[in-house]
Amino acid sequence: MGVADHVTIRTFRFPEDYEAVYRLWAEAGDGIHLRRSDEPDEIEKKLRRDPDLFLVAEMGGRIVGAVLGGFDGRRGMMYHLAVAADVRRRGIGERLMEELERRLRAKGCIRYYLLVTRDNYDAIRFYEKRGWRWLDDLRVYGKDLL
Ligand SMILES: CC(C)(COP(=O)(O)OP(=O)(O)OC[C@H]1O[C@@H](n2cnc3c(N)ncnc32)[C@H](O)[C@@H]1OP(=O)(O)O)[C@@H](O)C(=O)NCCC(=O)NCCS
Repeated sequence: MGVADHVTIRTFRFPEDYEAVYRLWAEAGDGIHLRRSDEPDEIEKKLRRDPDLFLVAEMGGRIVGAVLGGFDGRRGMMYHLAVAADVRRRGIGERLMEELERRLRAKGCIRYYLLVTRDNYDAIRFYEKRGWRWLDDLRVYGKDLL
């Protein structure tokens, strides 16, 4: 039995899980950029839309992983997949992603996207081994509305 077998993947609970997940993201390294959208009021707003797409991995009462998903009716998104550094490479990231995909499919999502920092090679290797393809003919644009 591997470590990942002792891990429960469950829906994020607000506000109880917020602090632990924020800390996990803050300590996850350069690949996770925490912004205004990660503050409690913005997370609460996000949860009003699709609360079941925010997942945590729990092991012995400790939150060791998290991923925040979204679905807009056409495409899905995956944000902030992270696993605590001391329990990486044990399949927890994969379990989180698989459960998110199961829930996205159940909503009718046929394609989803993620953003990854150019030099986040660990994450890039992880994604490319799991069916993700770099869309190198596209540029990602962003615009602030508020
Ligand atoms: C990306 C990330 C979430 C992957 O999480 P993880 O739990 O380590 O992922 P997994 O264990 O499922 O898979 C990771 C690697 O461990 C390997 N692995 C899985 N079980 C293993 C085991 N029992 N023994 C050894 N290796 C194992 C996997 O094959 C994989 O390696 P590979 O991609 O080089 O083949 C994690 O590295 C992370 O939190 N990074 C920092 C945050 C970040 O940058 N996130 C991405 C934002 S875009």
